[in-house]
Amino acid sequence: MRQRGGWLLWTTLVILGLLCLSVDAGNYINDTRLGPLNRTSNIPKTQDRDDAVKITYPPKQVVLDNGLVQLTFSNPGGQITGIKYHVIDNLLKNKTTQTAYWDVMWRGQLHGFDGKEFKVITEREDQVEVSFISTYNPSFSNDSMIPLTVNKRYIMQRGRSGFYAYVIFQRDEGWPELAINDVRLTFKLNQDQFNYMAVSDTRRRFMPTADDRNLGQQLAYPEAKLLNNATSNPLFHGEVDDKYQYSSDDKNGKVHGWISTKSSVGFWLITPSTEFRAGGPPKQDLTSHVGPTTMCVFSSSHYATEQLCLKFKQGEAWKKVYGPVYVYLNLAGSTRDPTTTLWHDAKQQMHEEVRSWPYNFTRCPDFPVSEQRGSVFGNLQVNDRYINSTSLVPASSAYVGLAAPGEVGSWQTESKGYQFWTRADAKGDFVIKHVRPGNYNLYAWVPGILGDYKYEVEISIKPGSRFELDKLTYSPPRIGPTLWEIGIPDRSAAEFYIPDPYPTLMNKLDNNNHSDASDKFRQYGIWGRYGELYPDHDLVYTVGVSDYRHDWFYAHVTRNTGNVLVGTTWQIQFKLTNMTAPGDYKLRLALASANYAELEVRFNKESKAPLFSTGRIGEDNAIARHGIHGLYWLFDVNVPRSQLHEGNNTLYLTQTRGGNMFVGVMYDYIRLEGPPLR
Ligand SMILES: *[C@@H]1O[C@H](CO)[C@@H](O)[C@H](O)[C@H]1NC(C)=O
Ligand SMILES: *[C@@H]1O[C@H](CO)[C@@H](O)[C@H](O)[C@H]1NC(C)=O
Ligand SMILES: *[C@@H]1O[C@H](CO)[C@@H](O)[C@H](O)[C@H]1NC(C)=O
Ligand SMILES: *[C@@H]1O[C@H](CO)[C@@H](O)[C@H](O)[C@H]1NC(C)=O
Ligand SMILES: *[C@@H]1O[C@H](CO)[C@@H](O)[C@H](O)[C@H]1NC(C)=O
Ligand SMILES: *[C@@H]1O[C@H](CO)[C@@H](O)[C@H](O)[C@H]1NC(C)=O
Ligand SMILES: *[C@@H]1O[C@H](CO)[C@@H](O)[C@H](O)[C@H]1NC(C)=O
Ligand SMILES: *[C@@H]1O[C@H](CO)[C@@H](O)[C@H](O)[C@H]1NC(C)=O
Ligand SMILES: *[C@@H]1O[C@H](CO)[C@@H](O)[C@H](O)[C@H]1NC(C)=O
Ligand SMILES: *[C@@H]1O[C@H](CO)[C@@H](O)[C@H](O)[C@H]1NC(C)=O
Repeated sequence: MRQRGGWLLWTTLVILGLLCLSVDAGNYINDTRLGPLNRTSNIPKTQDRDDAVKITYPPKQVVLDNGLVQLTFSNPGGQITGIKYHVIDNLLKNKTTQTAYWDVMWRGQLHGFDGKEFKVITEREDQVEVSFISTYNPSFSNDSMIPLTVNKRYIMQRGRSGFYAYVIFQRDEGWPELAINDVRLTFKLNQDQFNYMAVSDTRRRFMPTADDRNLGQQLAYPEAKLLNNATSNPLFHGEVDDKYQYSSDDKNGKVHGWISTKSSVGFWLITPSTEFRAGGPPKQDLTSHVGPTTMCVFSSSHYATEQLCLKFKQGEAWKKVYGPVYVYLNLAGSTRDPTTTLWHDAKQQMHEEVRSWPYNFTRCPDFPVSEQRGSVFGNLQVNDRYINSTSLVPASSAYVGLAAPGEVGSWQTESKGYQFWTRADAKGDFVIKHVRPGNYNLYAWVPGILGDYKYEVEISIKPGSRFELDKLTYSPPRIGPTLWEIGIPDRSAAEFYIPDPYPTLMNKLDNNNHSDASDKFRQYGIWGRYGELYPDHDLVYTVGVSDYRHDWFYAHVTRNTGNVLVGTTWQIQFKLTNMTAPGDYKLRLALASANYAELEVRFNKESKAPLFSTGRIGEDNAIARHGIHGLYWLFDVNVPRSQLHEGNNTLYLTQTRGGNMFVGVMYDYIRLEGPPLR
């Protein structure tokens, strides 16, 4: 029996909803200086102030000021110690420790980069660019210094309420080996001001404070806290907070940040391109969370694997530019709903930044402008005679990208180079613009089509080069007709059954709408619903009777047997009616995630030796971290016809590993193919 949200949950939600609306209405300021209730006039546009950008040097400091924003850095450290905007003296946390910084994980610890040398790169009335460099020098440095030269750059322009930040990481030949992870730019904001966060249209809310979290109860995963002592606002009482609930796919994480409803000010981190981010468009990373914290994670193993760590051999040279990203500040006047006004304006600004990418104003030889980049045009078609026996099918909406040369699908674990992705149109036509010079393979996957494509010929982009690749053909894995299938091949488990959250473990991700189905998977503890749905036996799916949207649990999790968590076996029952065609069958097993799991396949007898095993796979931790996918896996299992018979058959899928509740897999898609038709 399945439990659906009862009237109690519903009533609770409605009451909480009303309470939240009243908080919302009480929390704006009616600042008449800023003009009438008018969205366009409430956001100061660039022409409002036209001061020249000034640079000054108080003792041990550098200050950039364009009349809209004042940025203070330590000199030569290059830490941002102050951001003054509108009525707020400092948008950053009032603390002596670091509040705005670039860092990496090195030797198990977070490691920042204190600049040793300050330089002015550009000093004009319309733009100032500064640089803070920490240099590694093998002749003066010892083993306790990270073998990496880091050049932090900041740009302020006239009439812009914000600033750009980027960093150049460099290693020269002959330097010692290095392994780093978690390349990040972090801002810790003023907690007296910032109380509302927006990460996406459906994840926008008043947020608990760091103290609320500190007093809360730790749940099964250290980052998840039950706010049972929320002192900042009783409304948060009983909610769960976990920073991973605010993760986004990098392709969707182009703007997020915080709002001060007290001052009607927004602080936004805009990442206009994914070219410098590791792991391709579906890679998930942290965004903003309780702190108040806003960060851009450029490279991490989150929702993926340690393979994404940046590992350099002794002597290996490397250089990479992360960014620029834009820190955008905005201001709403006396609007009824400043949070919506500021969020919509931030999204608009994000689109403007995306349109002007690649930026043409950095003074950095390692950041090529548009004319110094190349492009690739093409058309991708799918060749699968069991989808269309007479013609090719356009790879409609395909993700097509260039990444470092490698195996099929290697882009999802690639982090040293740059990646350039686009979507094909309905006809399969695609254009990849603004590609940095270098050598690449072209990769693709098509929503609704199984597997991964790679174009075998390496593509060497030179400044101004233009490749025409007409027509590329992707022949997805296939031997014969589909006998049955479960799910949609789209690298995600979102189409399966995602249970309702526990009312006692909710995160009201959107204060105004607690019911957005597309975010249900982000709720804490829903994995625990498995044991309630299937108290006596594990999941059994009957082809032709069951519906994967209701009858296929989103994650193949472990079962709690009282004191141990054990692996479980799911069954797929199906009928074969006509086995006259000669030849073997094929099982396609596509996984959307795996975490310390091992999946075994058996047909018709649960107790025999497995026909196939994945072996121990995965460490993406997507179940615990509220992802609906991690890394993509595809297994093709040959099924000798002797394994099957006419009539009823059962496929047993055994996830063998136990130990904790976060071990398991998420399926993307399962298909049984018959022998080839003549
Ligand atoms: C905001 O201030 C204006 C001018 O004083 C006033 O007319 C208006 O009613 C106020 N709005 C709210 C919602 O308080
Ligand atoms: C908003 O303000 C702008 C500029 O003052 C004006 O042109 C526009 O008509 C106003 N829009 C509304 C809906 O009041
Ligand atoms: C930090 O806060 C204290 C007390 O509110 C204030 O006196 C001090 O000036 C602040 N420091 C900075 C750097 O803003
Ligand atoms: C390494 O160099 C740093 C900076 O010069 C210095 O503080 C540290 O003591 C040195 N460590 C060793 C082990 O020599
Ligand atoms: C937090 O709340 C729990 C239950 O409401 C209570 O037992 C505990 O004493 C509280 N802790 C603190 C530090 O207030
Ligand atoms: C730089 O880019 C901006 C925005 O895309 C454009 O308006 C401007 O003309 C460009 N400037 C140069 C020198 O190319
Ligand atoms: C196969 O493709 C052709 C040409 O696009 C189309 O006319 C036909 O309807 C397709 N057949 C199927 C079964 O989709
Ligand atoms: C709430 O979410 C549902 C499901 O996504 C959507 O249909 C509805 O329009 C939303 N309501 C509001 C008030 O945003
Ligand atoms: C069984 O399948 C074969 C092809 O594999 C086909 O020729 C034959 O007509 C089918 N028989 C029935 C009864 O559907
Ligand atoms: C085959 O499976 C179907 C559906 O589960 C069931 O109704 C039927 O009784 C089974 N047939 C046999 C012979 O076991």
